[in-house]
Amino acid sequence: MIEKQFILKSYSKTLENGSFTWSSPSNIALVKYWGKKEHQIPENPSVSFTLNTCKTITKLSFSKKENDNEFSFEVYLDDEKKDDFKPKIETFFKRIESYLPFLKAYHFKIETSNTFPHSSGIASSASGMSALAMCLMSIERSLSEVEVTDNYVTQKASFLARLGSGSACRSLEGDLVVWGKHDKIDGSSDLFGVKYPFEVHQNFKNYNDTILLVDKGEKQVSSTVGHNLMHNHPFAKERFKQAHKNLSDLINVFKIGDLKAFISIVESEALTLHAMMMTSMPYFILMKPNTLEIINKIWTFRKETHSNVCFTLDAGANVHVLYPENETELVNEFIKSELVAYCQNGHYICDRIGFGAKQLTMEN
Ligand code: PMV
Repeated sequence: MIEKQFILKSYSKTLENGSFTWSSPSNIALVKYWGKKEHQIPENPSVSFTLNTCKTITKLSFSKKENDNEFSFEVYLDDEKKDDFKPKIETFFKRIESYLPFLKAYHFKIETSNTFPHSSGIASSASGMSALAMCLMSIERSLSEVEVTDNYVTQKASFLARLGSGSACRSLEGDLVVWGKHDKIDGSSDLFGVKYPFEVHQNFKNYNDTILLVDKGEKQVSSTVGHNLMHNHPFAKERFKQAHKNLSDLINVFKIGDLKAFISIVESEALTLHAMMMTSMPYFILMKPNTLEIINKIWTFRKETHSNVCFTLDAGANVHVLYPENETELVNEFIKSELVAYCQNGHYICDRIGFGAKQLTMEN
């Protein structure tokens, strides 16, 4: 499958060497992507909040090499050489080579660091792949003779990032991003993320996401394996239908600022994601006892205080605690007094809605 719109006709400029640095955030899905077709095409549309604090910063240095018959690159995490990252990046380069024909013409040095701890159980693939995609797009922009628009760069970066890690395509912009074709959202696409195009009520501005680190270990089942278990899953068809409906319903929820309806959809999505894992064959559970303790505490607190705090989960045991800006103090107090005890070594990360990838330096 070749998407012609993402192939530039020719590069007429030459570039010997240089470097670009970008930061790109993580994101948290409200309607979840779980299940994919070939070429990282999602089985259903998803929508996410872009995060602000949890980011990857990547510096990509490049220098022209003698021949262009193979990929040549080295990877560093926090200044330490990481050869174990190479196979994933090699696969990524192979998938995107037809869209970036200069890839074999350069030797690359990829230096990356995350603002969140490496062993936090927070996946760095969304922020990492989107940051790398933006660095590569900066090179393409410099090589191109014709003026390429910001919109083209962001969209193609999202398209490329998707080929690295599906949900990475939702990290380029903020504050809400839709990925996957949805009949009520014009411009939505299976190929890249787009900024949520409709009205969003003030209630959802500066929304908080405090990430409770319940289990910092490596996941027992990777998301690639999990996605694949949705093939022939007995409930898959209904689940994909439900995701379309939940996204339709969210359109009005975002418009009128209905926090109660938001909570129902978001928590149901999180539990459905994990229910799909538990009903796969083979089945598996990524939640831990403390994940459930936290969920129950949130439900009790909500009942007692009428707060609008709620939770969501990604493919792991950590809990994302979501709450509106005007409840920051109330919920922070609750987290400190009742939830931190369930976090591994008491660790948690305070984050909130953010606005996507940013260029940090430009040298070439
Ligand atoms: O991008 P992947 O392949 O790691 O899948 C991410 C899947 C979830 O985080 C569980 C859901 C989502 O939409 O982000």
